[in-house]
Amino acid sequence: TKTKPTIITIFGGSGDLTWRKLIPALFNLNIDEWLNEQFKIICIGRTEMETSKFVEKLHDGVNQFSRRGKAQKKEWDAFAPFIEYRSGDFNNKTIYNDLKKDIQVFEKEAGESINKIYYLAVNPQFFEDIAEKLHETGLAADKEFARLVIEKPFGTDLATAKQLNEKLLSIFDEKQLYRIDHYLGKETVQNILAFRFANALFEPIWNRNFIDHVQISVSEKIGVEDRGAYYDHSGALRDMIQNHVMQLLCLIAMEPPVSFDADEIRNKKADVLHAIRKINREAVHEYAARGQYGAGWQEGDQVPGYRTEKNVDPNSNTETFAAIKFFVDNWRWSNVPFYVRSGKRMQQTNSVITVQFKPVPHQSFPDEAIENWQPNRMIINIQPEMGIRIRFQAKKPGLKMQLSPVDMVFNYKDTYAAGIPEGYETLLLDVIEGDATLFMRADQVEAAWEIINPILQTWTDNPSVNFPNYVAGTNGPETAEALIARDGNNWTTVP
Ligand code: BG6
Repeated sequence: TKTKPTIITIFGGSGDLTWRKLIPALFNLNIDEWLNEQFKIICIGRTEMETSKFVEKLHDGVNQFSRRGKAQKKEWDAFAPFIEYRSGDFNNKTIYNDLKKDIQVFEKEAGESINKIYYLAVNPQFFEDIAEKLHETGLAADKEFARLVIEKPFGTDLATAKQLNEKLLSIFDEKQLYRIDHYLGKETVQNILAFRFANALFEPIWNRNFIDHVQISVSEKIGVEDRGAYYDHSGALRDMIQNHVMQLLCLIAMEPPVSFDADEIRNKKADVLHAIRKINREAVHEYAARGQYGAGWQEGDQVPGYRTEKNVDPNSNTETFAAIKFFVDNWRWSNVPFYVRSGKRMQQTNSVITVQFKPVPHQSFPDEAIENWQPNRMIINIQPEMGIRIRFQAKKPGLKMQLSPVDMVFNYKDTYAAGIPEGYETLLLDVIEGDATLFMRADQVEAAWEIINPILQTWTDNPSVNFPNYVAGTNGPETAEALIARDGNNWTTVP
């Protein structure tokens, strides 16, 4: 079904996100016939450029990054006319006045209110100013159909996140705000809800009585690439843990929702964040480990250390790896550790959640039979492998009773023939349809910052004396291994 007539204005339209993600996503939505014929994409950037040149560049982006590969001519020709490029300073009122006129014309033609979506793909320093200008021009006034989409980072700590929320909420209603966490748009991430709450099989064991611990690991092979200027003021805690990793933790730990209503789901997730035990600044070293990569090797190539990357301070104290042990202090999870970690220049690129179950209460097999014993584990592969594996013991065929672990596997590749939409397709369609379920509410963002803040402050105030402390292409620092090994556990390695 087609959605309403829509004008989507992308501030920061000439940037990477538009080129790599947003336009390929909108293009695919149009192929799948979600977009109305009355659809307009206005990209505003500071670079001077003709629309025709700009469209050519976007075409190239689609060819490179769309999940469907190179665009079919017919499909591109049907989509390209939606796009218009405008150059200008975000503080210049003309931009907003012009936009207002476009919207009026569109609404007249449509004979109804249209969706007015403002997408902030800009440096966060412009968030408040743009919101203010939208407000002054009356562009934010339609409480139902004017929507603001905000990319991360949402604040740089608790205080700045609060301040930004306060400012935005003085202009918009909460239901007009779509704070993006692109992990929530991923199919495998959405599937955590289906897996947990559409099956009777797992929920009865999803608690402290059966689960020993949980691991959430988001590793990337890439370094900071050309984002040094941003990343050196961010670091792994802010860039990955506060948002993506905490959201994954919420989905694993939340209580069953009563319905699929946006606020119901978000309430249940917020409950998890509120239950997470605060780590005092004095205890940070016990619960958290940080790392920064030094030079190393990846796939036979030598790669530079973080401190010699472009736009990075040669004495930088920024962490490119973080590992934390959390506890969710409620009935379900009392005393179950949740180990999370995320890092750049790791050995592998993968996002994996491991749920490790407790051992059997009594071991009936003789020692020889269980040489190879491994605990039951459920491994939820978010990416690049997509699927779920359950590891259990089986009798190894042979004349003797010998146990060995085997995997029961569900994977997307073999199960679903149809193409899998990208996170941004899901999220953009949700914005167009006005569904905020997969977006972060103000209180969630603040609750996540509250958890991260003491660690952040401790690490900022006490620069590491041993950075760099892991070699590029490895699994992070020793201290992260020690963090989990102290409890007799170890990070799962994915084959
Ligand atoms: C972004 C971070 O939010 O997520 C990047 O800023 C990171 O540093 C990226 O590389 C990872 O996203 P994905 O979808 O590739 O796992």
